[in-house]
Amino acid sequence: MNRILICGSNGLLGQRLAQMLSRKTEYEVLNTSHHRTFVFDHQLFDYTQLDITKKGDVKSLVSSFQPTVILNAAAATNVDWCETHREQAWTINVVGVENLVEAAKRVGAKIIHVSTDYVFDGREGPYAEDDRPNPISYYGKAKLAGENVLRISGIPFGIVRTIVVYGYGIKIKSNFALWVIESLRAGKSIRCVDDQISNPTHVNDLALAMVRIFERQREGVYHVSGSETVSRHEFAVKIAESFRLDSSLIQQIKSSELQQAAPRPLLTGFITLKAETELGIRTMNILEGLTLLKREMESAGRN
Ligand SMILES: NC(=O)c1ccc[n+]([C@@H]2O[C@H](COP(=O)([O-])OP(=O)(O)OC[C@H]3O[C@@H](n4cnc5c(N)ncnc54)[C@H](OP(=O)(O)O)[C@@H]3O)[C@@H](O)[C@H]2O)c1
Repeated sequence: MNRILICGSNGLLGQRLAQMLSRKTEYEVLNTSHHRTFVFDHQLFDYTQLDITKKGDVKSLVSSFQPTVILNAAAATNVDWCETHREQAWTINVVGVENLVEAAKRVGAKIIHVSTDYVFDGREGPYAEDDRPNPISYYGKAKLAGENVLRISGIPFGIVRTIVVYGYGIKIKSNFALWVIESLRAGKSIRCVDDQISNPTHVNDLALAMVRIFERQREGVYHVSGSETVSRHEFAVKIAESFRLDSSLIQQIKSSELQQAAPRPLLTGFITLKAETELGIRTMNILEGLTLLKREMESAGRN
């Protein structure tokens, strides 16, 4: 039986992978994250604590579980925090991957990892897999270094790069879509930039791509993002429309007005042809993604 180790199971992507895979009888799934407890019922999901930055712990858990594949959803994902906490960001996003690689080598496991459009400078999106990365933020640099750890590792690996991931999860760090919904529901006005343009991605498409890489025995880099290209401001207006919220609370601004700690690539977006043809994935457009998000929130009693 295939044994799947999921790292970062308490995050948005990790929760989705846990839900998607634990139902499949052909897999034995072990969920892990650096928290002591799992957000889902421990009786329904196998769970153990694992901090990917702790080399010895990673080595002993991987040796005892003997995974066929490691799905790494663990990461430091706050771009501005990474800019100001560089050492910690590097430890999680690069050293953490090194620890997984070293442990995977011993048991012959494959690693499927997640990266970002922030490895590009945003001057000429949409990008294909073989376009030249040139990160402009520390987060982007560390994520590219994490990719390179896998490239030189000699083990079988897959990397899914993705963009502005949204979806509902339990006790997760907020994402752009949830922030817009929660702010507008509270009657708060928000400022959204019209000069950061990309393809927001529903988390289900990302999780499915990781599973397909494993199931179809693929390797290498795949670009997976939603099928529609929008600015953050346009995305926020679409969210307001879908959730019947007051779009007049959304102010249109430029990135320079936000004074964020980390610079953002302005024009990204992905060419997803490789994922479509090799993984058989057709990613959602914004209306489809938001309709699904609405259903997820309704079933969690958050409507
Ligand atoms: N979200 C986006 O818009 C976006 C865009 C492009 C790419 N990505 C990539 O997609 C992947 C998944 O992101 P996501 O949206 O699911 O982010 P997320 O919700 O922040 O999940 C990441 C999870 O990793 C956990 N974690 C942090 N340090 C850890 C450690 N040392 N050991 C084990 N777990 C640790 C985090 O826990 P704590 O939060 O409690 O620390 C969190 O639960 C990441 O690789 C990210 O870089 C995300």
